[in-house]
Amino acid sequence: MPSQASKASRRSRPAATRAEAATRPSLTATPAVEATTDAVVVTAFEDGLSSHAEAVDAALGGALTEMRDAGEFRGRFAQRATLRTLGRLPTRHVLLLGLGRRRELDMFRLTNAFQFAGDALRARGVGSVSAYLDDAVVAATGRDGSGPAAVADAVRAVATGILLSSFDPGTSKTDPEARPPIGVVAIGGVAVDAAAVQRDLEVADVLALATNRVRTWAAAPSNLLTPTLLAESARQLYQGTGLELDVLEKADLEREGMGALLGVARGSDEPPVMITVRHDGGPVAGPRLALVGKGITFDTGGISLKPSAGMDLMRDDMGGGAAVLAAMWAIARLGLRVNVVGVVPATENMPSGHAYKPGDVLVSSSGKTIEVTDTDAEGRIILADGLTKARRLGATHIVDVATLTGSAVVALGHSASGLMSNDELLTGLVKRAAVSAGDRVAELPMFPEYAVALESRVADVRNLGGRQAGTINAAFFLREFVEELPWVHLDIAGSGWNSQQDQTQIPQGPTGAPVRTLVHLARLFAELDGA
Ligand code: BES
Ligand code: MN
Ligand code: ZN
Repeated sequence: MPSQASKASRRSRPAATRAEAATRPSLTATPAVEATTDAVVVTAFEDGLSSHAEAVDAALGGALTEMRDAGEFRGRFAQRATLRTLGRLPTRHVLLLGLGRRRELDMFRLTNAFQFAGDALRARGVGSVSAYLDDAVVAATGRDGSGPAAVADAVRAVATGILLSSFDPGTSKTDPEARPPIGVVAIGGVAVDAAAVQRDLEVADVLALATNRVRTWAAAPSNLLTPTLLAESARQLYQGTGLELDVLEKADLEREGMGALLGVARGSDEPPVMITVRHDGGPVAGPRLALVGKGITFDTGGISLKPSAGMDLMRDDMGGGAAVLAAMWAIARLGLRVNVVGVVPATENMPSGHAYKPGDVLVSSSGKTIEVTDTDAEGRIILADGLTKARRLGATHIVDVATLTGSAVVALGHSASGLMSNDELLTGLVKRAAVSAGDRVAELPMFPEYAVALESRVADVRNLGGRQAGTINAAFFLREFVEELPWVHLDIAGSGWNSQQDQTQIPQGPTGAPVRTLVHLARLFAELDGA
């Protein structure tokens, strides 16, 4: 009935399921001093202005040099100086963007710097931007020389960065104050023809949309993004993509024996779901990559209740699931010739009279039993059923993504996802994908000694080791459920959300990491064919 349909869409609207509007960036041959876009972005390192900045400086009567000489602008990383051109140039605004030390610039920093630039310009009501790169910026991609591949990487990072400024944190305000997103992005100063970077410009657009989708989902209040609404929101996103979505509800989970997910879900009045989605783009007998994401829409800790300070941030505990769901969208949208399945077990973790308790034993769908030592180590428990589901769907390789441990934040801060694996080849691919994506991953060792803490006297495995090496400990728990498949685990507890006010080199709040890595990984699988 129509009334029901409109009711469903009204309910899920607060999670910002508005149309994913495309902003295909382009290359421009127009020099910075002739650009007619609302704004022009030129760059500087700590050791000097780029050639494009120098040309703009000359047209502005030396304004940029004066700022440098006065110590007002030192070219520090992500430093921004915005000037009005007052008719001296066709553009109205010039943004001089600091890129820091030459040697330190890489794809992660390049993407972030241009996101800061985009944010600053959008706040000034700028609707169209031309950004100028030179060879030194292209060199930051780490490729040899400044050939087409390096240019393509740089163009992709810069375009993605600027387009990321379309993210709106204030979607729940009755009177939104945010300016409209930047609608036109042109990139100049690069010595390739448009055909060489056509695909990268398209990829940049899709990846920026996917990243912002993750950020929107991760930031959404848990009352507006329950497990059911997350599945509904994914369904809306997937319309017209050809992706096959399947949402397993409570009765299905019972039928499949998913006692791990059901156990965690017991304390919540919100029903759990297991979201699965398939993209069959590759040969039938080819590899099948499974992406498995933790979908805890709110983590109170359960009976092992968390302290209240900062607990509101636990609404982002579905960031891994969000990255998986948005990556699937991007993979389909880019038409990648590869088989990928996405699996997202989703539930709240709540205390109540029905809640699971320390000392309980759960039977997972793999048949393995889990002794619950701490109900706050819930992510690994639901992932046990997620990983088993991925195996049942025919996965040949698994990458899981989860806001899994506070220890990952302690170890790596907000700069990098922790990477743990049982397979060197897949690890290599994920690391390569992360570089292309402008994400960071840092590998932690899987020394067998770390597994000891998970031995249980009463069950096959327990969900909590000691205080030490908590991030690796969690990975060993997950490994029990992947068995011999090549597998990489990404702990994004720190990288998914920058909550550190004085960490100003990374955008604040939800970052969307590592959704772009997942998509680039699928691209590598499509290239390798038979990995
Ligand atoms: N969702 C948390 C991990 C987390 C912490 C994510 C901080 C983002 C920021 C996870 O479910 C959790 O509670 N982990 C516990 C595990 C512990 C009980 C072994 C933790 O890290 O304290
Ligand atoms: Mn927890
Ligand atoms: Zn959690």
